[in-house]
Amino acid sequence: MEKKVIELIGAEIRQHENVIMRDVNFTLSEGEFVYLVGKTGSGKSSLLKTLYAALPLEKGEGHCCGYDLTALKRKEIPYLRRKLGIVFQDFELLSDRSVSDNLEFVLRATGWSDTKAMESRISSVLELVGLERTEHKMPHALSGGEQQRVAIARALLNTPQLILADEPTGNLDPKTSLEIFNLLIAISQSGTAILMASHDVATMQNLQCRTVVCDHHELREVQTPAAIFS
Ligand SMILES: Nc1ncnc2c1ncn2[C@@H]1O[C@H](COP(=O)(O)OP(=O)(O)O)[C@@H](O)[C@H]1O
Ligand SMILES: [Mg+2]
Repeated sequence: MEKKVIELIGAEIRQHENVIMRDVNFTLSEGEFVYLVGKTGSGKSSLLKTLYAALPLEKGEGHCCGYDLTALKRKEIPYLRRKLGIVFQDFELLSDRSVSDNLEFVLRATGWSDTKAMESRISSVLELVGLERTEHKMPHALSGGEQQRVAIARALLNTPQLILADEPTGNLDPKTSLEIFNLLIAISQSGTAILMASHDVATMQNLQCRTVVCDHHELREVQTPAAIFS
């Protein structure tokens, strides 16, 4: 059987005293790509935050990358976060240092120290996202799409089981959005599960991929993004 990277059973997603989603049942397996859609404010980010333990799971069951979210201790959160990569809308690269130094900063923070091994990992992840030989460029010298590729490369550094992407195409034009989307699909095909949240259904409506919708405090599975319009 395929390994489950995420499993939520009857989970309640909350923002403090407010219930954002009830009875969420959702499974994501190794190497799977799922598109998470829903209007602004429907709870996509809250669901992702629950998965990376920025919000507690107090009702229902939840496992993410082998960690029981209901039993997770504060000191275990960094270990969970090392098994997953997170990509946000606004790239969040450090603007005062090169691409390579941005990536090295994360490697050092997660326990790497061998310079040769770091150099080799950095060039591998940049190759994976199609940005060979950009090591010495500064973030501001890259386009928005390229900066998002660096952020995806950064998320891949520690070979995560899962990437959670929260509106990764939110600041990009439709053509670049599709390129980022296709890159994430390709990454999922090499084994990393991906859950990508977006409210931009228009750009993606002709794509074929497993899609879940946040709507009316529920998470519902649909066949393709296009099904939302029918
Ligand atoms: N930090 C917060 N504190 C309290 N309520 C929040 C917070 N962040 C978001 N919310 C509320 O949670 C609901 C879902 O928001 P969010 O998960 O950000 O939706 P989406 O990502 O789909 O736009 C909204 O009603 C929003 O106002
Ligand atoms: Mg959001």
